[in-house]
Amino acid sequence: MEKRVLSGMRPTGRLHLGHLVGVLSNWKRLQDEAECLYMVADWHALTSDYENPSNLLENIHEMVLDWLSVGIDTERCILFRQSEVKEHAELHLLLSNITPLGWLERNPTYKEQLAELGESRLSTYGFLGYPVLQSADILVYKANLVPIGKDQQPHLDLTRDIAARFNYFYGEVFPMPEPLLTPTSKLPGIDGRKMSKSYDNCVYLCDPPDKIATKVKAMFTDPLKIRKDDPGHPEGCVVFAFHKAFDSEGADVMEPLCREGKIGCVAHKETVAQILIKVMEPIRRRRSEFEGSIEVVHSIFEEGSKRAQEVASQTMEEVRGAMKI
Ligand code: TRP
Repeated sequence: MEKRVLSGMRPTGRLHLGHLVGVLSNWKRLQDEAECLYMVADWHALTSDYENPSNLLENIHEMVLDWLSVGIDTERCILFRQSEVKEHAELHLLLSNITPLGWLERNPTYKEQLAELGESRLSTYGFLGYPVLQSADILVYKANLVPIGKDQQPHLDLTRDIAARFNYFYGEVFPMPEPLLTPTSKLPGIDGRKMSKSYDNCVYLCDPPDKIATKVKAMFTDPLKIRKDDPGHPEGCVVFAFHKAFDSEGADVMEPLCREGKIGCVAHKETVAQILIKVMEPIRRRRSEFEGSIEVVHSIFEEGSKRAQEVASQTMEEVRGAMKI
């Protein structure tokens, strides 16, 4: 039987090139290899950003535009919104009964986020239960493969533990989902730190050409290469990292020229800016096809959520049957 893939992202804002070379390229590849369900985890966003949900709809819209623009294709996979498939909530509730508190409190991702984001705001029942909801997301589709970043591994381990406990109590309903780790993106932000919205160092998927050029000009380069003919050190140079990620052969040609001081950083930046602008041209074009037509996004969700729900409601029949409720 064909493998079933489920993954999701919280709608927290625009996506950037780090997402493209990491998670999105993984998602794109899988569309041709398995039955894929990709989910906007809007209930998960509310576990931490619960005070002011007024940006939620806009963030969802932006994120789906980003997905569509890079080539996530509704002909080949199911895109849906978690909150439109209520079966997730029912399974979450049933799983919460069999999830020992200790499993949740020991979760390293939970402990880290709590420490990072401030203890009191996140000492909520919903936030502690975040991975139980995630388990429900995965198990309600009996997914076999779950593409995730390394930070999500504890959540998947927990999902497997919960599934095993359910199967032990009530009978074999859930297959064991396997993680499919996203290769860690080697793409730094323009300042050389990890590319992240909170560092304000991203190149966004929706950036227009002039913005891309400005950002490439601002990229950190080798601090020892001051003049054009100084020998450069490509390792640790942000411009090189981008060159390598989007035109590996070109970067290999450039490398000795840089080391020997035959090319300066300004010229190299111009080359890389042109490469990025070209790579992002089809992304920008697809985005503009979908942009401005909020109905298209609505109908994508309507259709996707309906298809997802067909699968989820079947599982829930089985779950209720196994539990004799
Ligand atoms: N927790 C995931 C993240 O922050 C998002 C997510 C929610 C998810 N449900 C999921 C990922 C189910 C994979 C499977 O990235």
